[in-house]
Amino acid sequence: MAAARSLAALSSARATRPGPRRAGAWPPRVSAAVARAVAAEPEHARRLVAEFDPAVPLDAAVTPPSGWYADQDFLRLELDRVFLRGWQAVGHIWQVKNPNDFFTGRLGNVEFVVCRDANGNLHAFHNVCRHHASLLACGSGQKTCFQCPYHGWTYGLDGTLLKATRISGIKNFNKNDFGLVPIKVATWGPFVLARFDDESTEDDAGDVVGDEWLGSASELLSTNGIDTSLPHICRREYIINCNWKVFCDNYLDGGYHVPYAHGALASGLQLQSYETLQAYERVSVQRCESAPSEPDDFERLGTKALYAFVYPNFMINRYGPWMDTNLAVPLGSTKCKVVFDYFLDKSLLDDQNFIERSLKDSEQVQMEDIALCEGVQRGLESPAYGVGRYAPSVEMAMHHFHCLLHANLSG
Ligand code: FES
Ligand SMILES: [Fe+2]
Repeated sequence: MAAARSLAALSSARATRPGPRRAGAWPPRVSAAVARAVAAEPEHARRLVAEFDPAVPLDAAVTPPSGWYADQDFLRLELDRVFLRGWQAVGHIWQVKNPNDFFTGRLGNVEFVVCRDANGNLHAFHNVCRHHASLLACGSGQKTCFQCPYHGWTYGLDGTLLKATRISGIKNFNKNDFGLVPIKVATWGPFVLARFDDESTEDDAGDVVGDEWLGSASELLSTNGIDTSLPHICRREYIINCNWKVFCDNYLDGGYHVPYAHGALASGLQLQSYETLQAYERVSVQRCESAPSEPDDFERLGTKALYAFVYPNFMINRYGPWMDTNLAVPLGSTKCKVVFDYFLDKSLLDDQNFIERSLKDSEQVQMEDIALCEGVQRGLESPAYGVGRYAPSVEMAMHHFHCLLHANLSG
């Protein structure tokens, strides 16, 4: 579990989908190219998948083998089967709030840029120049166009190739065929989602995206304070020397580790109230109540906390006046980046002291979790370990996660 987290009301979901100009047979089907690049699928990765048996009930089950957490081919399979198919959380609407805002990212071998054009339409593209493949945009910010840093080819924020420099004399070249390669993008509540296996540019209704991404948990999250109006306070990124699933497993142990690893946090929670509410199709929800506080106690946690895990790698935490999200991005088989974004109720925006104390307390929890995750990774790579067991009364959300992965990787 990351930090602690209670609830209010959700904004209407709205999917935004632009229509960049692109034509003919160009570009080649990128999702197919991406799939080819990652789909080596060596036999031993397939065998590793089969070593976990989701049919065994939780109280008798063994965990996935350590190879799930350290094998490069297994990660390749995950990228192909888990991350580059279906909707993935890639950012927040605060990052592309205004016309000309953009942000970049990377998932596996996919480099992407999400931007809002001057007309307010949201787009996502592969962040790769169509001339000689240079990355185009860098970081985040505002731009009226994307000019390639290599030879200056320039693209509009709708993906159109506006200028191809020094191409006089070129034959068989139509600028319209060399726009940026689109990625499907949508929003749900405050979140930006992308699908890397679908280049279609038609609009999706928000409830369709919600259903596809969150399944039947969509309504629960909608009515429990996942709120678009909460102002963004800050982003913190942590590079952790562990497989991305080690971080997710840590989040999904039903508070099991909290009394042992998070002394300060544990004193603010009623750990006996910690429960896994329900495992939906792709979402599991945990909840915990806060310990009763004295009148002038520091109230970071509010009265109850809700932790939603959205398969495969996105966590939404709602507690007191705060919401934070955690995105665990694989960087390699034994390395990941976790992106924390903090949002706070408007009424507390001027309370710098409260904000600083809250962030400091949360940082403490992250440091404790990072130490745990890196220790687990080293243990997973030890010859002493093969598989583990689940504590049946608390680790049901973790088991659900592993079963989803198994289904995804076997399909
Ligand atoms: S690689 Fe982009 S202009 Fe040459
Ligand atoms: Fe934790």
